[in-house]
Amino acid sequence: MTAPQSGVRGDLHINDLTVEFVKGDYTVRPLEKLNVTVKAGTLALLLGPSGCGKTTLLSCMSAILKPTSGSITYGDTDITSLAGRDLTNYRRHGVGVVFQAFNLVPSLNSVENVAVPMRSAGVKARAARDKAVELLEGVGLSDRLTHKPNNLSGGQQQRVAIARAIALDPPLVLADEPTAHLDYVQVEGVLRLLRRLTDGGRVVVVSTHDDRMLALADQIIEMRPNFLPNDDSAPKQVNVPAGQDLFREGDPSDLIYMVDSGEVEVVRDTGDGETVLGSMAAGEHVGEMGPLFGLRRSATARARTDVTVTGYTAKAFRDLVGPERLPSLIRGR
Ligand SMILES: Nc1ncnc2c1ncn2[C@@H]1O[C@H](COP(=O)(O)OP(=O)(O)O)[C@@H](O)[C@H]1O
Ligand SMILES: [Mg+2]
Repeated sequence: MTAPQSGVRGDLHINDLTVEFVKGDYTVRPLEKLNVTVKAGTLALLLGPSGCGKTTLLSCMSAILKPTSGSITYGDTDITSLAGRDLTNYRRHGVGVVFQAFNLVPSLNSVENVAVPMRSAGVKARAARDKAVELLEGVGLSDRLTHKPNNLSGGQQQRVAIARAIALDPPLVLADEPTAHLDYVQVEGVLRLLRRLTDGGRVVVVSTHDDRMLALADQIIEMRPNFLPNDDSAPKQVNVPAGQDLFREGDPSDLIYMVDSGEVEVVRDTGDGETVLGSMAAGEHVGEMGPLFGLRRSATARARTDVTVTGYTAKAFRDLVGPERLPSLIRGR
């Protein structure tokens, strides 16, 4: 499979994308089964609070991060399965990235900064220079060609960074909170510029928690944090007859169950039948991961005998066991 090249435009498809990070004793899953299509020529905003997975998603799109499952396709290319030379090609010619912190080389002037990706792709010095000048003129910096980043405002630095990102004419441009360090006047210029990049069929994806950008977007991708439910409902006791499921793998998670009597089995479908992961008797709990981390059920819980269980919300469960005991309870799952 070949990487998308300069000049070739297509639609971006995010298919059932899930990203998990294992952090010591527990797992964070900022993206879960995300499905989004962004059509060629579209400016899409990833909108959501800090921690909801915007940078994670952009990292998957720029092929810096491999998702846990699912895929991202651009045109005919599966970005998430690129390797070797195709991966290098994609990072160089397929995608341009603009960062929150500009990431310019401080010792290089504007022209030299914009020329960097062209030089590393083998463009001759003179041609790279000429193209850099043209790009900088395009972003309104013709009078800042030989300034170093130190002598540029934040907005000007970001415009240099945008010129650099499109130096090799990538069909896909990603910007991670590009306006975070800019004042209101500067934001305006940067946004117009990002908007203009969609001309000719580029896909531009911009993450932000700045709602001033809404007016310029063709499409809003609203990202929700996998927040822990903070519901105050009182614990409730239920009886489950032998053989019946308490919850099923893949269900949205609501309650954590303490077993009052009887035995609950936890099983997972492995493709060729069910595997029993464990069983819980009176005094033990089951199903804590989903509600505590805002994840779907990762396994099915079934009554092996007639059982009585008490269901707790994540908040009630935390109160019940105490915050110090939580990590050790979750350990090893
Ligand atoms: N490399 C990593 N290792 C572990 N956890 C991570 C890593 N990158 C991000 N996370 C976690 O994933 C969640 C989403 O992070 P991020 O994508 O940076 O969100 P955003 O950009 O929307 O602020 C956060 O809980 C963050 O702590
Ligand atoms: Mg971020």
